[in-house]
Amino acid sequence: LSRKVEMTNWEKGNYINYKKMSENLAIVRSRLNRPLTYAEKILYSHLDDPHGQDIERGNSYLKLRPDRVACQDATAQMAILQFMSAGMPSVATPSTVHCDHLIEAQVGGAKDLARAEAINKEVYDFLSSSCAKYNIGFWRPGSGIIHQILLENYAFPGGLLIGTDSHTPNAGGLGMCAIGVGGADAVDVMANLPWELKAPKIIGVKLTGQLSGWTAPKDIILKVAGILTVKGGTGAIVEYHGPGVDSLSSTGMGTICNMGAEIGATTSEDQGAEYDQLIEINLSELEPHVNGPFTPDLATPISKFKVAVEKNEWPTELKVGLIGSCTNSSYEDMSRSASIARDALDHGVKAKSLFTVTPGSEQIRATIERDGQLQTFEEFGGVVLANACGPCIGQWDRKDVKKGEANSIISSYNRNFTGRNDANPATHAFVTSPDLVTAFTIAGDLRFNPLTDTLKDKDGKDFRLSPPTGAGLPAKGYDPGRDTYQAPPTDRSTVGVMVSPNSDRLQILSPFQPWDGKDANDIPILIKCKGKTTTDHISMAGPWLKYRGHLDNISNNMLIGAVNAENNEANKGIKWVVIGDWNYGEGSSREHAALEPRHLGGLAIITRSFARIHETNLKKQGMLPLTFENPEDYDKINPDDKVDLHVTDLAVGKPMRIKFAPKNGKPWETNLLHTFNEGQIEWFKDGSALNSMAKKTKA
Ligand code: F3S
Repeated sequence: LSRKVEMTNWEKGNYINYKKMSENLAIVRSRLNRPLTYAEKILYSHLDDPHGQDIERGNSYLKLRPDRVACQDATAQMAILQFMSAGMPSVATPSTVHCDHLIEAQVGGAKDLARAEAINKEVYDFLSSSCAKYNIGFWRPGSGIIHQILLENYAFPGGLLIGTDSHTPNAGGLGMCAIGVGGADAVDVMANLPWELKAPKIIGVKLTGQLSGWTAPKDIILKVAGILTVKGGTGAIVEYHGPGVDSLSSTGMGTICNMGAEIGATTSEDQGAEYDQLIEINLSELEPHVNGPFTPDLATPISKFKVAVEKNEWPTELKVGLIGSCTNSSYEDMSRSASIARDALDHGVKAKSLFTVTPGSEQIRATIERDGQLQTFEEFGGVVLANACGPCIGQWDRKDVKKGEANSIISSYNRNFTGRNDANPATHAFVTSPDLVTAFTIAGDLRFNPLTDTLKDKDGKDFRLSPPTGAGLPAKGYDPGRDTYQAPPTDRSTVGVMVSPNSDRLQILSPFQPWDGKDANDIPILIKCKGKTTTDHISMAGPWLKYRGHLDNISNNMLIGAVNAENNEANKGIKWVVIGDWNYGEGSSREHAALEPRHLGGLAIITRSFARIHETNLKKQGMLPLTFENPEDYDKINPDDKVDLHVTDLAVGKPMRIKFAPKNGKPWETNLLHTFNEGQIEWFKDGSALNSMAKKTKA
């Protein structure tokens, strides 16, 4: 425990603190006095206050200190801009940024990468210079997909990582508790604030038996997705255990964890641990699965797939098969797929469908180039795309079918919601193992079952494909390939952050102003929202995502999706304080939904109730989320009332007075409630949580 171990080979001086972790765990164990699951051990060993923390699964909010932060390039922009506004010289927690989401697949790896570098130059320049300035490891475009790089370079057993992408759990393949978060959470941890997480429930998946033949680790998660459905894992950690785990490679476990909405922690030492739900799967009996179309939880075993295709009238011709992505691009995946492609080539046949290969990282690409799998794919008719998200995130300039034309594609990716890959709502997208994707492309038909059906060789003779084979790790070790990593320089004082003043995609943020210490009198109501107001209504996504690094530009979308109680129309930009209905701010944790009202001069959001994450995000940005003591008061408010808010009342557990002055009618007063604690009141006074952190750092 006393030996110092570096967290990664890419950094110096960031040690894994197993000593602190085991001390924290000992404290929690003595308090809880019950067996803990593996995931609980990791979480509780990272508690900010192991003595005082309330711990009840599914209820308490844990304050945690993660070991690392990782951001992909789309979400990193606003996270870093916010971090910069705190004025700190360096991130407080080891962090990395990964350029993978902005590269469109068109013709193949090298050309697509060069085009993306030109189109996104200002974003990449900003990210690389700000990473250098603030001590963040930067993985350039072409380096690979965030989750693959984390697994290869940064994951370690017992560690706690947060990442601004939903498939962060991929690092669970090496026993790390890795959780996908919103940008605001990443900023907190970069700035040394504890990270808050509702104590997750733990779902146990007990694996017995052994994988063999055509069944792959992917089939375990396809089966689990079918059992739990897309909602079943919400707020839970999925923990895989039992003797079946022994037959899985680390990258295979990564695949399983990637697709589990939370984490997959692997362990066989938790006898007697208490799970909120337990699923058992016998791997010896598990069939390969194909899930979809349109949702990843519609699971069909291969033996029943042909019937399902015919019964549902899914297009039988397979247009495109796509392997790789963050979910399935390990050396093992590539080798197994290449063995199937080689088998076909040996019989004189190639892929009938279009076939694309997305290596998860430059290291994987270089290694399969050296070892020959890449050449096999090309001989087979495959196109090797850039080491990036590509078609998985919809960065795909697909040419083989017209928009609206019904067609089928199959991938080894994780998501297949309508339009995700090619923006064509008529595309029937299925997900399965890379093995099955490869086999299907040879038949070019979804009714094919490689376990039982034969294909025709070049002479018209029947043959059956052999089950895939492939090593888990390359016998000659990994080839790192091109150097795609930029380490932050030791002396960062002279580094400048590159943001063009004319940019419409990026804008430097100034810190928000501190509170002026006064009550606010005669303020207008910007909008009285009626019914459901989600973070997507407050800050719409879609075309606005382009501006996620430019607060001024993206603020033009504020509340355009909310329904204005005054005229039952979407907001047309009346000036401001917001009145909200029940559960205001539900939906994704999008930080722009809290940044925008603050940026546009908002003081308070007054509602019947809040979605908790949004309420906290508003506090962090220096706003006042307040609720009516009497929810019926909402009905008495006219959108054109003027408001006097007694901000100076703000104190822990004390209501705040508010006066509403209708245009025609008598003013009336009422009480508002809030959930501010002492520290959060400081955030409000200082103008934002980041300002408070900056003050502390300077002090
Ligand atoms: Fe990228 Fe798709 Fe994974 S978008 S991070 S490859 S899920």
